[in-house]
Amino acid sequence: MIFYEPHARDETILPHDPFKSLVAPRPIGWISTTDSAGRVNLAPYSFFNAVAEGPHMLAFSSRGAKDSSTFANEIQEFVWNLVTYELREQMNETSAALPRGMSEFERAGLEMAPSRLVAPPRVAASPCSMECKVVHHLELRDLSGATFDQHLVIGQVVGIHLADAAVVDSAVDTASLRPVARCGGPGDYAVVERLFQMLRPSS
Ligand SMILES: Cc1cc2nc3c(=O)[nH]c(=O)nc-3n(C[C@H](O)[C@H](O)[C@H](O)COP(=O)(O)O)c2cc1C
Repeated sequence: MIFYEPHARDETILPHDPFKSLVAPRPIGWISTTDSAGRVNLAPYSFFNAVAEGPHMLAFSSRGAKDSSTFANEIQEFVWNLVTYELREQMNETSAALPRGMSEFERAGLEMAPSRLVAPPRVAASPCSMECKVVHHLELRDLSGATFDQHLVIGQVVGIHLADAAVVDSAVDTASLRPVARCGGPGDYAVVERLFQMLRPSS
């Protein structure tokens, strides 16, 4: 069994930091935002997850103050869009570093659809989008108390769009949506196509 402290990894054994290969797969936060001038932004974030369900909350974390966290902070709103296998290439396109104001929707050939309760648009082709209002926005600190330009945004879900076809026998069939998740190595992804069932113990 290998043990190492993150800052002192033996790089002859592990030349590449395996952290993101180990915490995998990570769901992808495909985040649409707008700034106060109405400029639209769309980008993927794999430091993303659901962090509460009563009320529903989603979080994403930005390495550096990129447009998504900056815009979300500015108008206190963002939208999460589900990335399906069919949308994988377009999702990847939207990770390009475009100058502020240039639309990733346009670059990736994606249509926007209006949200109901927040300003940022949805990805029309995604079978699920969640409209969120920001409740926390913080710059993370390490053990020494120092910030390191990592920005965590937590939003409360205020509206959910779900394609009719995603509901089968009164439930969402996750596998049929084929959600894509990020794994560790460059270009590594996973797709959920098969589920297994295991119920929690009753006592
Ligand atoms: C699948 C995937 C996951 C990513 N996850 C993150 C992440 O968690 N945090 C981050 O800062 N950048 C992440 N990136 C890189 C951003 O998407 C990229 O820097 C993008 O240009 C940011 O756009 P923005 O400035 O419009 O927000 C990811 C890229 C891809 C393709």
